[in-house]
Amino acid sequence: MIELQDVCKIYDGSTRALNGISLKIEDGEFAFVVGPSGSGKSTLIKLLAGELRPTDGKVLINGFDIGKIKNKDIPYLRRTIGVVYQDFRLIDNKTVYENVAFVMRAVGAPPRIIKKRVPYVLELVGLKNKTRRLPNQISGGEKQRVAIARALVNNPDVIIADEPTGNLDPARSVELMSLLEKINGLGTTVLVVTHERELVNKLAKRVIAIEHGTVISDRTGGYYLDEKEKIQQILV
Ligand SMILES: Nc1ncnc2c1ncn2[C@@H]1O[C@H](COP(=O)(O)OP(=O)(O)O)[C@@H](O)[C@H]1O
Ligand SMILES: [Mg+2]
Repeated sequence: MIELQDVCKIYDGSTRALNGISLKIEDGEFAFVVGPSGSGKSTLIKLLAGELRPTDGKVLINGFDIGKIKNKDIPYLRRTIGVVYQDFRLIDNKTVYENVAFVMRAVGAPPRIIKKRVPYVLELVGLKNKTRRLPNQISGGEKQRVAIARALVNNPDVIIADEPTGNLDPARSVELMSLLEKINGLGTTVLVVTHERELVNKLAKRVIAIEHGTVISDRTGGYYLDEKEKIQQILV
């Protein structure tokens, strides 16, 4: 479970990136986080991934308290979360297979398990035929899917993706969202930061909208307002 209680994050003593966020995401939920550039979405993701600590308030994820977690416990936290970063963070001189196997080795998985699990996950993301390629020998969409495979491979409780469709054409974006839905269907909690208004509205999931570091709307049923709709809503 993910829970934020009155969370503030101030950078360099002055930039207030998050300004009193409270929310709860239950196990097995699928939620979108939307909002304009600079509203604090990536800061929220980095707090959940244990890359940053809150300036104020409480961040709880999978039984860990990010404000209090000891550095030696961060690897245990990371095992419960798969993060898909906006810039992929793939290792250039490792094959697709190795990029994924690597994160299993990093948590000490036995070779026998790695040999079974990596092909399974690569098949799930549709990369069965690209396992021996290097990152510079695959397309942007395929790199994105390697990043997802890597986030998935240790069977985390939660998958968090920061604008995973940022570099994809519309058809690929739809495909990627269906993949995340499929993963959610297998029981994983999924949290996706995105700008894809049409997709968000079509998928009709929970939508958490952030502006200036606060939650301005949190509704289920796909509800990503554009500026005109927001004004209309204020008027009625
Ligand atoms: N490492 C940092 N140091 C200082 N300011 C930062 C840092 N990262 C983000 N910010 C600022 O915090 C605010 C929120 O940023 P961010 O969380 O990246 O927003 P988003 O992902 O919604 O675009 C912005 O004003 C941004 O400039
Ligand atoms: Mg961002």
